Amino acid sequence: TNVTNLLSWMTRGLTWSAAVCGTPVVAPPRVNAVLGKNMTLECRTRASPNHILVECHWVRSLSSGTDTFATYSQEYGIFISSKYAKRMHFRLLTRNDASIIVQNVSFSDAGIYTCCSVVLMLRLIMEPKVYVTAGPSALIDGGNETTVATCSAERARPEAQVYWESNLFGTTLSDSVRAVNDIITTRQYYVWQPTRLIQSPKLTCVVGHPALQRDIRIPYQISVQHAPEISIVGYDEEWYVGRGDIKITCIVNANPAAHFFKWSRLDDQMPEGVKMVNGTLIFVQPLQLKDSGIYRCEIANTIDLTSRDVRIVIQVKMTLLVSVMSVPDSQIPALNVRTACRWKMALEEVGDDHSNHIKATNMSDDRDESGPVSDYVSQADGAAVSRTVSYI
Ligand SMILES: *[C@@H]1O[C@H](CO)[C@@H](O)[C@H](O)[C@H]1NC(C)=O
Ligand SMILES: *[C@@H]1O[C@H](CO)[C@@H](O)[C@H](O)[C@H]1NC(C)=O
Ligand SMILES: *[C@@H]1O[C@H](CO)[C@@H](O)[C@H](O)[C@H]1NC(C)=O
Ligand SMILES: *[C@@H]1O[C@H](CO)[C@@H](O)[C@H](O)[C@H]1NC(C)=O
Ligand SMILES: *[C@@H]1O[C@H](CO)[C@@H](O)[C@H](O)[C@H]1NC(C)=O
Repeated sequence: TNVTNLLSWMTRGLTWSAAVCGTPVVAPPRVNAVLGKNMTLECRTRASPNHILVECHWVRSLSSGTDTFATYSQEYGIFISSKYAKRMHFRLLTRNDASIIVQNVSFSDAGIYTCCSVVLMLRLIMEPKVYVTAGPSALIDGGNETTVATCSAERARPEAQVYWESNLFGTTLSDSVRAVNDIITTRQYYVWQPTRLIQSPKLTCVVGHPALQRDIRIPYQISVQHAPEISIVGYDEEWYVGRGDIKITCIVNANPAAHFFKWSRLDDQMPEGVKMVNGTLIFVQPLQLKDSGIYRCEIANTIDLTSRDVRIVIQVKMTLLVSVMSVPDSQIPALNVRTACRWKMALEEVGDDHSNHIKATNMSDDRDESGPVSDYVSQADGAAVSRTVSYI
């Protein structure tokens, strides 16, 4: 019957295996298997027509003795012990191949196997669960040294290689915990004193393990919190009486985002007809001289409140027609305006208050002729040579 055939065949196999399997067999001496995954127990002859496998036995060495659990025979076919039949099969790629595929590998599969007298050592490895967690507190610029992040490689066998790659000059601390079956959980803590001085900070956890085809790399986003940094844009020192469509903006760089914005005036009340929208101060009406003053922008986030002041001078734009009598043209730039010149002044555009600052900008020595406009007007005279100088 089939059963007696099988029994006699098995007995024969056990007895004659070495002789029948005389052909040289190729099998890697160490095999790593990942818990719960499939693995291949490699065993084949060199690929050559002279080295066809005739018969081959797979044997396990157990503390209770040896167990022939699978047999390949050209004559009788294949056999796999019922204990393993559900999750083992021969690969049978070629007639040289007696490799076995084992599904859903478990700890009890670890040990020593023999294929046609060649010994294989099956080591069971476990792929770690890898993840990165943030430290206990937010990173605040200039704050105390703290754990930025923790990289964990949980339940690895053998222990995983865990390290941090960074440009931050911090330090690492590590610990590992060993559980039954030599399953090890490793953690690496990255410790650093937060500062914003590092451009594009980088922090990446790298985990290497025999169960991984390539290292796992998990980047960690560094976010250092800081008080708002303010700069004021929009004031170009060319603000004249009557100019419209005017605004200044407080540009803020803050982490976390700013939640409080305020514009105020330090030297006087805020002029009427200004509007505040977040960090922007809008002069809804054309500028007036009395809008001159010191303005303050205040911005806060959860870290701190920052303020910045801007001194705004509203100018009167006018054109002076300068007339010089009895002085050669070439000497004009060197003249002392108050004593040697007589001025005629034509105010092209005048604000409501003439006593505002006047600055000579187009004279070669760039004198700052400040004073009430009336000083000049009183010295006005007829024109022999005339020259137009813009005063701001
Ligand atoms: C293991 O092999 C079985 C059968 O070949 C297949 O169905 C299963 O998807 C494989 N499992 C893995 C994790 O590769
Ligand atoms: C894999 O084997 C374990 C026990 O070793 C079992 O609990 C699990 O259900 C098996 N998984 C599959 C997909 O067969
Ligand atoms: C920083 O550390 C010092 C001393 O350990 C402590 O007194 C202080 O409160 C810490 N500062 C912060 C912001 O945690
Ligand atoms: C002002 O800030 C708030 C909150 O940051 C934002 O929702 C809103 O769009 C801003 N308004 C303008 C006009 O930018
Ligand atoms: C102002 O100065 C510039 C060069 O400095 C000169 O070319 C120009 O003619 C001057 N304007 C007047 C009105 O003098």
